[in-house]
Amino acid sequence: MTAVDLERLLRWYVEAGVDDAVGEDALDRTVVRERTRPAPEPAATVTAAPGAAPPAPARPLPPEPVRASAPAAALPPLDQAALGARAIAAACADLAALRAALAAFDGCALKHTATNLVFADGNPSASVMFIGEAPGADEDREGLPFVGAAGQLLDRMLAAIGLDRTQAYITNILPWRPPGNRKPTPNEYAICLPFVRRHIELVAPKVLVLIGGTSAAALLGTGEGITRIRGRWHQYRGDPERPSAPIPTMPTFHSAYLLRTPALKRDSWRDLIEIRRRLDEETARQSAG
Ligand code: URA
Repeated sequence: MTAVDLERLLRWYVEAGVDDAVGEDALDRTVVRERTRPAPEPAATVTAAPGAAPPAPARPLPPEPVRASAPAAALPPLDQAALGARAIAAACADLAALRAALAAFDGCALKHTATNLVFADGNPSASVMFIGEAPGADEDREGLPFVGAAGQLLDRMLAAIGLDRTQAYITNILPWRPPGNRKPTPNEYAICLPFVRRHIELVAPKVLVLIGGTSAAALLGTGEGITRIRGRWHQYRGDPERPSAPIPTMPTFHSAYLLRTPALKRDSWRDLIEIRRRLDEETARQSAG
């Protein structure tokens, strides 16, 4: 293969979403094979130099990554998947059940290309819940939300208002990474939304922070851009078909967007101060009565 062929092949991989090396050894997944390397050649065919070290014992191959069994072609139609998701999510009595239900859910194609389910991080008893868009490569690898560059900025933003991950709970609208970090489709959101809504119900935060326009649009059901709706309090009311007690909700710029557009950090800082103020107010209100 020439260098040009190799470059073309790499480009093809990247366009198909394969942009991250997760192991040292290339695996040919089209063949069924033993889970150990082939034994060394029999001694008769190998002419070892006198005094040479004995052949190394067979080294086990890395474990096969855990993949969902259903191929994407077998996915149920959108309506069926979304209805199925709603019934499954509603039946989850706690976060452990919700996590297990998502891990077993086969209705979203993203699961089949992701390495890990990215459920949540932080303290589920915290007063404030942050919801981002979707895991990136670092999150997919570690199985935790906001651990890459955008996550490090989010941690600094939390620290600026006296919070860390023991005092905040963090998740995403989508629990699986879209291949190549492509923008998730409306269908993918629609299918995963019942799980996020149930996630919010189970955590029951005093204050909700929506990180970026995508999570704001999905949960507030608005077509307005983040620049217009950030910095103001909105009410999250749950599933429109089963409205719940409203939760004060602040949409704010995504930390990944702030990394690319640092001039917006001043606005983001104002949002953070307002989030801190509201948290203190809600906490004081609860202690008073
Ligand atoms: N961006 C997100 O929206 N979520 C993550 O977990 C990481 C980056």
